[in-house]
Amino acid sequence: MRDQWNSKLAFILAAIGSAVGLGNLWRFPYIAATNGGGAFIFPYLFAILTAGIPILILEYTLGKTYRSGAPGTFARINRKFEALGWFQVAISFLITVYYFAIVVWVLCYIGYSFTLAWGDDSTTFFVSDVLQATSSADGTGGINGHLVIPFLVVWAIVAFIMYRGINKGIDIACKICLPILLLCTIIIVIRGITLPGAIDGLAYMFTPDWSAIAQPGVWVAAYGQVFFSLSIAFAIMISYSSYLPKDEDVVNTAFLTACCNHGFEIFAGIGIFSIIGYMAYAQGCGVEDVAAAGVGLAFMVFPTAISTLPALNTLFGVLFFVSLFTAGLTSLISIIQAVITGIQDKWEMSHNKATTVVLIPAFIISFIFITKSGLDYLDFADYIANSFGIVLAGVIELLLIGWFFKPEKIRQVANLTSNFNIGQWWTWCLKIVTIVVLGYTFVINMAGFLKEGYGGYPMWIGWVCIAFLVIVAIVFAAVKGKPGFYQKPDDAPGYED
Ligand code: PHE
Repeated sequence: MRDQWNSKLAFILAAIGSAVGLGNLWRFPYIAATNGGGAFIFPYLFAILTAGIPILILEYTLGKTYRSGAPGTFARINRKFEALGWFQVAISFLITVYYFAIVVWVLCYIGYSFTLAWGDDSTTFFVSDVLQATSSADGTGGINGHLVIPFLVVWAIVAFIMYRGINKGIDIACKICLPILLLCTIIIVIRGITLPGAIDGLAYMFTPDWSAIAQPGVWVAAYGQVFFSLSIAFAIMISYSSYLPKDEDVVNTAFLTACCNHGFEIFAGIGIFSIIGYMAYAQGCGVEDVAAAGVGLAFMVFPTAISTLPALNTLFGVLFFVSLFTAGLTSLISIIQAVITGIQDKWEMSHNKATTVVLIPAFIISFIFITKSGLDYLDFADYIANSFGIVLAGVIELLLIGWFFKPEKIRQVANLTSNFNIGQWWTWCLKIVTIVVLGYTFVINMAGFLKEGYGGYPMWIGWVCIAFLVIVAIVFAAVKGKPGFYQKPDDAPGYED
């Protein structure tokens, strides 16, 4: 018997836990600020309505109807589609190993917050003390000894959750982490908006630049943010929804997931930019001089901002890094589960065995990212996964389902259990609008890469990474699985009928 979520709430929280991740906290505010500010809301809402929610509905419906992870779901639709599922799983595996390292750094920073260990120069502290960075041109530089214990701690937590399975592990982890995350964020926002200078930070994030709407790059950024933020085309949502009972209403769940995720990111953005505004005020510089995203925001800008706060610095340091930790952990377990479900279904393994088969190589490979050149590798892996991996996985998914399968049939299946019916707009969003934007994104990214490479890394490394993902997908799809893997449930639409 396939596992099933204990309750609808368990599934919703797991999906929200996956969606709400580091991307919401450290990526969204900056993307919004630099892509039109308040005017970004239009491309962003458009992307949510034409891509985010429709693809969530698609992936939830596929998962619960075919009751398998991404490889099994696509294989049950058409044997030839299976490689797409493995491609998504391969990207998930790649993201798992580097996302891990970030969660490890975050854990260290919870500790550093107690003494504000970064001192006056948080950038030097991060690069020289925490990462002890050497250039990747000199090899890995060896493992960073002081990161080993936090690394093992995060692995122990993750392994514990994964072995306990979806209800005793993932569900409980989300029920613990999400309230903590929400509480920390509320406190950060309240403190943020009551600081002097907050208004400048918010003005930087929200002042509309209407001319931005005419730039294609802004639309690409909006779609990119929505894809990443909702964890779609990563195999995650298909894997999670494969544990749903088949009469579950997934249409309203998709709306709910999207509203919570995007509502949360806007809310958190208010806190983050208020505090950055305060920091700029305290340092007497412009907000644009200090605003940053990603690793730069979390480990360079924010620690300084925390030290500048008038009082309770340690408390706010802990709150901020605990938010990152809880948000990151619930995303991390979702992406590992996507890989586990894929493997477990194909070879009909026990849950424990599949978990071991996935965790051991992930454990070994993730060591690369805590070496002294870890940040360089991470940056590159992240670039490949996001600029090519997810975009390509999304386009192929929509092409195969939209044009080589029966999207209308899937819409009917979704409507069977839905409170309100989704109309044909859904099909057209997937078949045309989203494919066009994603296809365009892919072309732009590829052109940029061909022209300039990325970050000074040799170009062949990029090709090797992309080729590796594709080869893994083809090989895993070619290997024969257990017969049950290919059998679609009787009531699921098939390619031939
Ligand atoms: N939605 C996640 C985020 O915003 C994306 C993600 C999911 C990344 C799972 C890694 C693992 O961070």
